[in-house]
Amino acid sequence: MTARVLLLASGSGSVLQAVLDSKARSAIVAVGSDRSDAFALQRAQHAGIEVFTVDFSDYQERAAWSEALRAAIDHYQPTLIVLAGFMRILDPTTVRAYRGRIINTHPALLPSFPGAHAIRDALAAGVRVTGCTVHWVDEGVDTGPIIDQAAVRVQDGDDEPTLHERVKAVERDLLVSVVTRLIEKTE
Ligand code: GRF
Repeated sequence: MTARVLLLASGSGSVLQAVLDSKARSAIVAVGSDRSDAFALQRAQHAGIEVFTVDFSDYQERAAWSEALRAAIDHYQPTLIVLAGFMRILDPTTVRAYRGRIINTHPALLPSFPGAHAIRDALAAGVRVTGCTVHWVDEGVDTGPIIDQAAVRVQDGDDEPTLHERVKAVERDLLVSVVTRLIEKTE
């Protein structure tokens, strides 16, 4: 079966950009976001990739937003969904429907520092080594089986932005490596 990769991102999309710039580009069918203003969408459009938005602020109820996102995803019939800096929790029914086909990248060495403030939490904990993780998405938050990880040393004087940038540089390569491997498995 030909790989059909759909990426979701909420922010600047610099990690997503690495996938767009890799040989995985030919398998990407769409990039979606929960925010109309996500720069990730502009990156995808610039790369000639179809984009869609299911803007969280357009919906009164989370259930309605989840349903609309699920319909948008189903439309593309993806074989792999990549959460590349997607800051919403996918509805459990969507996770179950695509179990074993959704991966997430997280800027910490899970199970350490799950959640939305991984870099801040690593600095607060005073760890000397942190890193990033790509894992299968299950119904939990950052809890699915780990696929691969990479370590990043914390440097004296690091603050959240400097450490996050250093982690993202490693995270980009890790995500491209995992996505490429999974695509090769599909074909
Ligand atoms: C990445 O570190 C990702 O793991 C985290 O948010 C960051 C996204 O950065 N969830 P960007 O938007 O790709 O620059």
